[in-house]
Amino acid sequence: MKSYEKLLEANKKWAAEKLKTDPEYFSRLEEVQDPEFFWIGCSDSRVPANVITGTTSGEIFVHRNIANVVLHTDVNLFSVLDYAVTELKVRHIIVCGHYGCGGIKAAMSNHDYRQTLNMWLRTIKDVYHNHQEELDAIEDLDKRADRLTELNVIDNIKKLAKTSVIQKAWKERQAPHLHGWVYGLKDGLINTVTEISPDISNIDPLYVYDDL
Ligand code: CO
Repeated sequence: MKSYEKLLEANKKWAAEKLKTDPEYFSRLEEVQDPEFFWIGCSDSRVPANVITGTTSGEIFVHRNIANVVLHTDVNLFSVLDYAVTELKVRHIIVCGHYGCGGIKAAMSNHDYRQTLNMWLRTIKDVYHNHQEELDAIEDLDKRADRLTELNVIDNIKKLAKTSVIQKAWKERQAPHLHGWVYGLKDGLINTVTEISPDISNIDPLYVYDDL
């Protein structure tokens, strides 16, 4: 059997087992999706949102990219964000990085990853630049990368709060809450790093829209 055929086999088995324990499972999910959470995570295969949070189909709306970057010109991410916030009306947005992130380590290096990837990693380099004194003082490179992972998550949460999508939702329905988490590959545990509650006073006035 080819490797990908195993996936199709497992899928058949999974669907059959679901029906056995819950005959309405698919017909219920087919009707509507009503997730409470929107997850922005790293593409890393070791950090699957549903698996590490003990959730199942229909519970988390997901977007993933290298090193869970929130870039304010990313049409892909912002389409997903807008839909999650405006249409699905998620209550919580989680940006989840992970310790040992290859994207973070790559951004810390001086290696040329070729233009497209260099462009992507540049955003993380800028986070490093903004916290250079603190980061340079950490001698152990793995620990330094882990701290940059946390700072990247904090920066991304702040960037979400600066968007009109989020500010409009805060004004209209006092949600979503923004959570910055970092998952540990070593122990499987999530470290909660930052949180911003739906209050416009939590945002630098420069980025506040006053006519939403
Ligand atoms: Co990663």
